[in-house]
Amino acid sequence: MDIAIAGLCKSFHAGRRVCKALDRIDLRIASGEMVALIGSSGSGKSTLMRHINGLCVGDAGQIAVGGRSIQDKGRLARDVSDVRAGIGMIFQQFNLVGRLSVLTNVLAGTIHHLPLWRSCLMRFTRAERMIALEALARVGMAEQALQRASTLSGGQQQRAAIARTLVQRAHVVLGDEPIASLDPDSARKVMDALARINREDGTTVVVSLHQVDYALSYCPRTIALRAGSVAYDGPSTQLSHERLAQIYGSDLPDLLAPRDSGATDTPRPTLALTPAAVA
Ligand SMILES: Nc1ncnc2c1ncn2[C@@H]1O[C@H](COP(=O)(O)OP(=O)(O)O)[C@@H](O)[C@H]1O
Ligand SMILES: [Mg+2]
Repeated sequence: MDIAIAGLCKSFHAGRRVCKALDRIDLRIASGEMVALIGSSGSGKSTLMRHINGLCVGDAGQIAVGGRSIQDKGRLARDVSDVRAGIGMIFQQFNLVGRLSVLTNVLAGTIHHLPLWRSCLMRFTRAERMIALEALARVGMAEQALQRASTLSGGQQQRAAIARTLVQRAHVVLGDEPIASLDPDSARKVMDALARINREDGTTVVVSLHQVDYALSYCPRTIALRAGSVAYDGPSTQLSHERLAQIYGSDLPDLLAPRDSGATDTPRPTLALTPAAVA
């Protein structure tokens, strides 16, 4: 499904201070694209994602997903929960229920489609369990299906969250910094899983990323926000150092150094800015 955003504005008021979190955002993301959303902390990435799935209402502008309105001029669409059922969300802080099994967490993705009494009871049919197991297998997590979610590593939890969007039959997946707190190896597995559902199912994926090198390796298109406005929107391969410096300002050196995963002897991934390195 495609995402269409026109004239989206959002301000937050804190006392007498007004923060323009989103300032006239116009974006079109076609069905089946895999797009990176970058920008320094506070640039509006999370706020934009929260508007796309209707968790947050703008002051002005429109958003439609798959041709159906999410919100229009500051009002949520009346059937927003129906439209939202097709949008999967993955957060930086893992949003699984720790005391439940991985399989049950993934089955929770079917809840949009279930009558309320069945979702309250957490009763699932054999067919539903099979679908959830298949989804876990696709993200390389079949073996962990019966483990408690709290026993999973961060990267495994994120892959389980991706499996949940598969069970949900989401046509759009929004990932809000899903790899921000992961080591490079786990981060790569999570990005591989997102790339796979994008490639094989045609799922539209929008993922906000702290590290630009992941945007380059996984996402043909990058959208950069700066202070609530679109500062760059184009091929990831054309993000030159100069452009990145404009987008990030003084945060740039920090961004180029991948976060330390604790191991000092592992080679650090380097930022590759040439098209050849992306191919
Ligand atoms: N609920 C809120 N109340 C007040 N200000 C907010 C709220 N949510 C976000 N903001 C502000 O909006 C701006 C964008 O925030 P956010 O979307 O979280 O940025 P990012 O995800 O890029 O780090 C920031 O200045 C932030 O302080
Ligand atoms: Mg954020």
